[in-house]
Amino acid sequence: MSKKFYITTAIDYANGSPHLGHAYEKVLTDIIARFRRLMGDEVKFLTGLDEHGQKVQMSAEQAGVPPIEVCDRLAAEFQGLCSALNISNDDYIRTTQDRHKAVVREILQKLYDKGEIYKADYNGYYSVRQEQFVTEKEKVDGKWPEIFGEVTEVTESNYFFKLSQYQDWLVDTIKTKEQMIYPRFRSADALQFLKEPLNDLCISRPKERLEWGIELPFDQDFVTYVWFDALTNYITAAGYGTDEFNQQWPADYHVIGKDILVPPHAVYWPIMLKALGIDLPKHFLVHGWWLSSGNKMSKSSGDVVNPLDLIEQFGADAFRYFVTREMNVGQDSEFSIDLFMSRYNSDLANDLGNLVSRLLNMGQRYAGGKVPTAEVEGAPEKELKALWKDTAKELISLFENFQFHKALERIFTFVSGINRYAETRAPWKLAKSEEAVDQAALRTSLATMAEALRLAVVMLTPVMPEISDKIRGLVGAESFDRLEGQLEWGSKLEGKALGEKAILFPRPERK
Ligand code: ME8
Ligand code: MG
Repeated sequence: MSKKFYITTAIDYANGSPHLGHAYEKVLTDIIARFRRLMGDEVKFLTGLDEHGQKVQMSAEQAGVPPIEVCDRLAAEFQGLCSALNISNDDYIRTTQDRHKAVVREILQKLYDKGEIYKADYNGYYSVRQEQFVTEKEKVDGKWPEIFGEVTEVTESNYFFKLSQYQDWLVDTIKTKEQMIYPRFRSADALQFLKEPLNDLCISRPKERLEWGIELPFDQDFVTYVWFDALTNYITAAGYGTDEFNQQWPADYHVIGKDILVPPHAVYWPIMLKALGIDLPKHFLVHGWWLSSGNKMSKSSGDVVNPLDLIEQFGADAFRYFVTREMNVGQDSEFSIDLFMSRYNSDLANDLGNLVSRLLNMGQRYAGGKVPTAEVEGAPEKELKALWKDTAKELISLFENFQFHKALERIFTFVSGINRYAETRAPWKLAKSEEAVDQAALRTSLATMAEALRLAVVMLTPVMPEISDKIRGLVGAESFDRLEGQLEWGSKLEGKALGEKAILFPRPERK
């Protein structure tokens, strides 16, 4: 029986268009999902949109449209990005869907009945202009920043979720489940946060301030606020309350950015689940940020890269390759168009693209468009096979450990090895000779290049699904949906049709 594997991304805020950070997270998760499918797992891959809240309500008011219209437009944009990027998600959740509202209400009622949620007065500073509570920490030189406008002290009733009673349990859990947070050093952030006593979490907003939310089942004057709504998406989509849930849950990985590990995912979410008697997710995979001139790319900074522009010009696979090759999962990475262009030109267009078209060209000219038989094994063949052996033995574990940038580096080192092999054997020179040994070496070199290219793209499949599949077909190999056996040298390509010359990575027009 295949193993179930449930993986999720964060759900994006419906308060602006998607940017590079959102695109990256989806690509990263997609690579893992595709890899697990190749390993034989039965994957459920969830992504979605976080639609309630103040900012959505405000932008709807400004535009003079109902909030759901704002959300529908952004849902189309984010889903458009997923399809442009070839994201293989099995489900797309929107927090405005009935299935989600039902689950949020159900768990709120459950926790309320258990006495884990209570009503209390909340005393704080309120910015009317921003329509939000602000804290002393946000003061600059002892004064409220201009953007807050007038700040007044107000008292408001709200509902609170008891966190503090679970503090010791959570500290203990994070310490003992060492594999829960990847990379491991991020556990320290969570433990640091837990050194201070936990305040109970305010989970509501009165409707007169915020209407665009899920109404509390036990008090219709309030909606629930932010995390109770957003985090719950993971269990909604796993079929909470149905038989399916026992099969899907716990999630194997929640993939998130480092800004939302602490406190929401590492503190609120485990405590919510514990209070509900639900198992914790097995792992959090925490990635870093895409930076632009040293700062986090974000909607508010304005300095954002629109992934759709890059995809349109260079294709989804080039984009997927770039972000995966450049980002060491867990660290931050700087984006620049120069870096993008240099990867595109040197790795993709030159090393890989030219190699493929060279082989196809020679295959048509010297071998009648078919993969010939490898008849000899000389030093160049031995060297290339040895290089492959070293490469192959590491690839699976690099993928399992999210070292995708290293896996790609190894694969492209092998691609360079194939190029070097071609230079050494120089089939174009062998073709000029009538000698039988030269003709045998010619056939061998073309067959060797075809097989080596087949191998090179096997583990590129999760990263660059379209291009890999194309190259696989061009060298005459069968398609596959399991990795098993695929990484071994010696498939039977002899006699298979080689494709016509193809330009895989066209030179872009200067923009
Ligand atoms: O946080 N680089 O939504 P969001 C890399 N709705 N990743 C980035 C990034 C960047 N520059 N900017 C954002 C939310 N991200 C909530 C999540 S989950 C139950 C609710 C990542 O649209 C960010 O870290 O602000 C997060 O994982 C995801 O994009 C969505 O961010
Ligand atoms: Mg954010």
